Amino acid sequence: MPDPDTFAPTEPPGEVRPLRRLSIWATAQRTGPAQRRGRYLPESTHHPATMLPAIAAHAIDAYTHPGDLVLDPMCGVGTTVIEAMHAGRDGVGVEYEARWAEVADRSVRHAHHGGATGHGMIARGDSTRLPAILPRSLQGQVALVVTSPPYGPAVHGHVRPTAGGVAKSSASYGDPDTDRGNLAHQSEPGLLAGFTEILRGCRLLLRPGGILVVTARPYRKRGELVDLPSAVLAAGIQAGLTPVERCVALLAGIRDGHLIARPSFFQLTAVRKARAAGVPLHLIAHEDVLVLAKPGLLAPSGAADVGEAGHVGEVLP
Ligand SMILES: C[S@@+](CC[C@H](N)C(=O)[O-])C[C@H]1O[C@@H](n2cnc3c(N)ncnc32)[C@H](O)[C@@H]1O
Repeated sequence: MPDPDTFAPTEPPGEVRPLRRLSIWATAQRTGPAQRRGRYLPESTHHPATMLPAIAAHAIDAYTHPGDLVLDPMCGVGTTVIEAMHAGRDGVGVEYEARWAEVADRSVRHAHHGGATGHGMIARGDSTRLPAILPRSLQGQVALVVTSPPYGPAVHGHVRPTAGGVAKSSASYGDPDTDRGNLAHQSEPGLLAGFTEILRGCRLLLRPGGILVVTARPYRKRGELVDLPSAVLAAGIQAGLTPVERCVALLAGIRDGHLIARPSFFQLTAVRKARAAGVPLHLIAHEDVLVLAKPGLLAPSGAADVGEAGHVGEVLP
């Protein structure tokens, strides 16, 4: 495994960027809505499990150069692609659900109009067949993959107070009967098998030395902690990638040396209930960030051609 103190995966040979990478990423100094305001379409907030834009932005800044190509094979509303474009990188996203692929596609155009200098492209499809979805010309071109797996059918979502109590919305993905390809509807072994297949496809698309960043939150199911991050790491190794770093992306802000927790309504309720029952649960205030590399020589930066504007390519059978 490369030495994480000196490993600079995307540097052209002979060039070493001064190290400014910490393993704790301060990615929630502003709330999610504040990070998205103006930069994202309002309908982006209806997705049940988006990534904080600052997490994608941090990974892109740390592991790529302007002009590099960044991929998210499970792009949801396109956070990774949008952040790549705003950072002068090109972005490609693939999303299974038509609804989110369409929002991501419009967000790419919104980013163009908002002055983003990179290009973006969104395809709709099942990323367990990634090499069949994306143009062959992209194979070996991707500098960085930033992605996160779904956490099951209904773990996030939004709440709003109503006269009759609290109303829950956008808390699950599409129809489990018709959307079987969505990994959110799979059992845990099915999700991990599908995710491993997606990572195999990413490996083919990454250039030698290219980096894959996966964020995954440990979560509780019926009170038991599910160690999704370790399972993701195992999936990456099985897909032929080499672990190089393990970081933490904070979901809590830092003010005057203290953490400002920003829990969801669901987390808060679960912890309060557990504590009332005598179980000393703590809030989860971070996502694990698993960083893996495609084995091979460090490749010089170079943009791949992803075209001018985004388009949704229908590839579902
Ligand atoms: C945790 S969310 C990612 C959210 C994204 N990072 C964002 O900020 O919008 C996982 C996404 O993977 C999508 N997905 C699930 N199975 C998929 C598959 N087989 N191929 C492509 N996308 C899939 C889900 O529909 C969901 O939008």
